[in-house]
Amino acid sequence: MSIVRVELGARSYDVRIAPGLLAQAGEHLGPLLRGNRALVVSDEQVWAAQGERLSAALDGMVVEPVLVSPGEGSKSFPVLADLIDRLLALGVERSDQLIAFGGGVIGDLAGFAAAIVNRGCGFVQVPTTLLSQVDSSVGGKTGINVGAGKNLVGAFHQPSLVLIDPQVLDTLDPRQVRSGYAEIAKYGLIEDADFFAWLEENGSSVIAGDVDARCHAIKRAVAGKAGIVAADERETNDRRALLNLGHTFGHALEAETGYSDRLLHGEAVALGCVLAMDFSVARGTCSTADADSTRDHFAKLGLPVSLAAAGIDASGADLAHHMASDKKKAGGRVAFILSRGIGQAYVDRTVEMADVAAFLDDHD
Ligand SMILES: NC(=O)c1ccc[n+]([C@@H]2O[C@H](COP(=O)([O-])OP(=O)(O)OC[C@H]3O[C@@H](n4cnc5c(N)ncnc54)[C@H](O)[C@@H]3O)[C@@H](O)[C@H]2O)c1
Repeated sequence: MSIVRVELGARSYDVRIAPGLLAQAGEHLGPLLRGNRALVVSDEQVWAAQGERLSAALDGMVVEPVLVSPGEGSKSFPVLADLIDRLLALGVERSDQLIAFGGGVIGDLAGFAAAIVNRGCGFVQVPTTLLSQVDSSVGGKTGINVGAGKNLVGAFHQPSLVLIDPQVLDTLDPRQVRSGYAEIAKYGLIEDADFFAWLEENGSSVIAGDVDARCHAIKRAVAGKAGIVAADERETNDRRALLNLGHTFGHALEAETGYSDRLLHGEAVALGCVLAMDFSVARGTCSTADADSTRDHFAKLGLPVSLAAAGIDASGADLAHHMASDKKKAGGRVAFILSRGIGQAYVDRTVEMADVAAFLDDHD
């Protein structure tokens, strides 16, 4: 088993990674749970695919699955309110640890419920998508979506433990696996050219399900996130903002496609990384060779690398408008994560939106 420690003083926690870990969930979760009861927040699809395995691992405990519908729509006030009512009806207390068992939607929703029910209880992440294993389960960002935008209501609330079993991905739709992969490659692009080179060799094995390759890639991504979160838990300086590489462009693409299955989050991040690299070339900070390597890598793995391939025909001005309403703008300026080359991302707050719009109009 690999353990990555997220160092946050009194709120530090382990991320434990191993194939077959789900079957040992009782051993890992038992000491944290109050009494003999496991309150599991999950979605219906995850529970149908993996619920029996978790229940078997929690043999001897009373397992209370509290299920919501799958999909982004569950990150909403009505679903949150209903979830909290059901948890209160089950007698949830501050000393309880909710078990968030699902993808990023469940982690964000259950984590936010844990942050506010009874003025806060604990929670544990057992992520079941590649995206949630390498990104959303670590770092403590929780929340829901509102009319004004995605993730605009929420709380920083760190989990007590994260259990990652790459084998739970066996029932995940391959498109979702590819999408989550983009968040792994992001760490190579941000700060680790050697890791990116490793992914160029081994990325297809990670996606195909090779257990060793998956464990290595997940561990590297989690370690990258843990280090950045420990240095800047609440995104108060540029360190954690680097994690948004591909996301400023990506959010505009997701907004344009209505946060729908037309473009999954990781697909938008992959294309967003390509656009960030190409924009960096246009600004003279990054070599064409590094931008081309980025595009070739994602293309080889079946991720979208052009606006046309993603079915987006919006004008550059419309896409720039989505970015300007992004929550990460500070002092009226959007923070762009740009690149000086693979492994050398940096934050630029001087970008003119008119330049971005013109760049996007020229991009295929
Ligand atoms: N908190 C953070 O730091 C952070 C970071 C990145 C993304 N996010 C959030 O994560 C969410 C996206 O998460 P996601 O991509 O994991 O999507 P998701 O949670 O919607 O899961 C995708 C689909 O896969 C199904 N599924 C999940 N695991 C499965 C399994 N093992 N077998 C079969 N089906 C399975 C789910 O039911 C769902 O239909 C977005 O809301 C995004 O905002 C949060």
